[in-house]
Amino acid sequence: MNLELYDLIIGRRSIRQFVDRPVEPQVLDKILEAAFYAPSAHDRQPWRLITVTRKDTFGEMQAVHPYLPMLNTAAAAVLVCGDLSVAPEHWQMDCSAAVMNMLLAAKALDVGSCWCAVAPHEDRMAEFSRIFELPEQIAPFAVVALGYTDVQKPLPKREIASKIHYETW
Ligand SMILES: Cc1cc2nc3c(=O)[nH]c(=O)nc-3n(C[C@H](O)[C@H](O)[C@H](O)COP(=O)(O)O)c2cc1C
Repeated sequence: MNLELYDLIIGRRSIRQFVDRPVEPQVLDKILEAAFYAPSAHDRQPWRLITVTRKDTFGEMQAVHPYLPMLNTAAAAVLVCGDLSVAPEHWQMDCSAAVMNMLLAAKALDVGSCWCAVAPHEDRMAEFSRIFELPEQIAPFAVVALGYTDVQKPLPKREIASKIHYETW
C-alpha cells in the first residue's frame, strides 16, 4: 500500500488499457477480499464473485456487452453478482458498495480497474446469466476489469461548490 486512503479515493480512475502482465493470485485475492468488507443492508452481504481470466470467456462477454473493449488487454475480470434470495430489495446497492471497495483496493495495490455495468440492463443480465450458468437466484451486477497499467490519467475537473448545499437546498 503506497497511498493514503483519501489520495486513493481522489486518484482512482477508470483504466481501460492494460500492460501484458498477469495480476498475481495473491493480489487478486486481496482485491476480492475487499468486497466482503463493504457495507450492506441488514448486513446481508449478497455479493457473489466469479473471477475470469480465460480470453475465450472475455470474448463471449464482449459479444453481449457493447462497452467492454478493455477486456482486450485486461488480465482478469470479476463478475460481481447478487444473491436475490438473501437481499431482494437492496442487492444492487450492496453490490455497488462491494464494487467500490474492489476498485479502491485495486488502486491501493497498483492495479488498474474499470467498473462496467451489467445490471440493470435486462438484455445483458440474461446473456451473462447464460454465459456463466448462473442459478436462478443469482443476478449478474457488474464486471470489474483488472490489470496493471502504464496509463497515467490526470485529475479530472469536478464542479463541487454549486452541488453542495448546507442545512437545506
Ligand atoms: C454504474 C457504472 C457503470 C459503468 N459502466 C461502464 C462500462 O460499461 N464501460 C466502461 O468502459 N466504463 C464504465 N463505467 C466507468 C465510467 O465510465 C467512469 O467511472 C466515468 O467515466 C468516470 O471516470 P473515472 O472512473 O475515471 O473517474 C461505469 C461506471 C459506473 C459507476
